[in-house]
Formats: sequence, C-alpha cells, structure tokens
Amino acid sequence: MATRASEDLLERAKARRWYHTLELAPGHVTDGWWDHRPFVDRFGLPERMDGLRALDVGTWDGYWAFEMERRGAEVVALDLDDERDLDYPPRRRPTEFPDEPRGAGFELARRILGSKVERVNRNIYDATPEELGTFDLVFCATVLVHVRDQLLALERIANLCAGTFIFADEYDPLAGLAPFPASRYLADRDKAVVFWLPSARTWKKMLYTAGFNRVEERGRFKLRATDGLAVRHLVLHSFK
Ligand SMILES: C[S@@+](CC[C@H](N)C(=O)[O-])C[C@H]1O[C@@H](n2cnc3c(N)ncnc32)[C@H](O)[C@@H]1O
Repeated sequence: MATRASEDLLERAKARRWYHTLELAPGHVTDGWWDHRPFVDRFGLPERMDGLRALDVGTWDGYWAFEMERRGAEVVALDLDDERDLDYPPRRRPTEFPDEPRGAGFELARRILGSKVERVNRNIYDATPEELGTFDLVFCATVLVHVRDQLLALERIANLCAGTFIFADEYDPLAGLAPFPASRYLADRDKAVVFWLPSARTWKKMLYTAGFNRVEERGRFKLRATDGLAVRHLVLHSFK
C-alpha cells in the first residue's frame, strides 16, 4: 500500500514536466516527451546485466539508467546540473536559464523507484576513470550530436569503457551521399543545438579514431517523440 510520503512524491511527479516517459509505480506513468519503451529492443542492451557496472552518459530524467538497473546492473548516471554548462554557439546562448537543477526530475524518479543509481554532475569532457572508475558497459544515446567537441567526448568514453560501448545518435543521410566520411555543419540553424551532424559512416570512423577497434552497426530506425517528432538514429556497438 502506498504511504502518505510516496503519494506526495507521486503527486509531485504528476505536477512536473518530464523529458522521459517513466513508469514510476503501477498506474503512474510520467507524461514525457520521449517514450523509449517501444524502441528499447533497437538499442541491443543485454537482457540481463547482473554483475555489470554500467554508465549512462547524458541521462536527463534517467530512463536508460533505470532500465539498466532493472536489468541487474550497478549504474552511474552522468549529466550536468546547470544548463549554462551545455555547449551553445555564442549567438544562440539563452539569456536566462532555469533555476531548478537539470537533475531534479531524475532525483524525484530515483526516490519513487527506490533506485540505487548514482547520478554524477559532470561534463563528459571532464569524466575520467581516475575519478569514476571503468565500466563494463557505457551507454550514450542522443548526446554527442549536441556537443561541440564530439571526438573529445568519444575519447573520454573510450577511456571509461572496459567492455562494450553502446552508441545511439542521429546521423545525416545527406552527408552520407558524399563518397568519403563527412559531417554537415548546422550550428546556426534555428532548432535544437547541433554543431556537426555526421553521416553513419563518419560516426563509425569517429568511434574508431577515439579508440574503439571494432565498431558494429546494430541498426537504423526513426526514434519518435510523443509529439510525433521523428529523428533518424544509428545504433553502434563497439569494443576496444
Ligand atoms: C537529448 S538528451 C538525451 C537524453 C537521454 N540520453 C536519451 O537518450 O533519452 C541529451 C542529454 O545529454 C546531456 N548533455 C549534453 N551535453 C553534455 C555534456 N557535455 N556532458 C554531459 N551531459 C551532457 C543533456 O543535459 C541531456 O540530458
């Protein structure tokens, strides 16, 4: 039976805006922008992750971190608390930022779920094995397309990864028409911040450059948001 305290937390969850659709308790599902549940199988997470240490890079409300924990992993979730620390082209940097830390939704979900996932407020550019240790599985979905220095972020991920790196992100079919690995420069377009949009071939080469010797394509599909927005995604599994 739900206690008064857990009912209060569920009420708070109902009142806030969510990035992820999360099932917090039977009958209590957040009204998120991105419901990954119909797409989970496309990413190729192991069915069971018992005994594995996993890192979710760019966790936001934590969908993937909680999913990996549900499968048995010990999970660290990395993201930034302060939106000022995200990469923006100077002209597109907002003049005002939210007062609430970016991890507030994650923390509320973590408490309701009784989760042990540890959330770390860290830029992927500054994430090192000396501080965080290494991970059997590193998961990073729809983050690298938004960062200015994709290769530095990938190098950091390679240093943290002692097993499998699951990469999922948008790719550019137009850049893919070039007969060589290309990326399209999009920093000044009036949409979500994307500096460079690599082709599928370019992403594979970049993972190799960052230190992954074996890069396997696991699929391409359109990830759909609950408002109908559809974004082409590429899934790669890679190993050093
Ligand atoms: C588009 S969301 C993707 C959320 C989640 N990974 C998913 O697949 O649904 C990108 C996330 O990456 C985080 N992020 C962006 N740049 C980052 C950086 N340099 N270091 C750590 N996290 C970053 C953002 O704060 C945000 O939570």
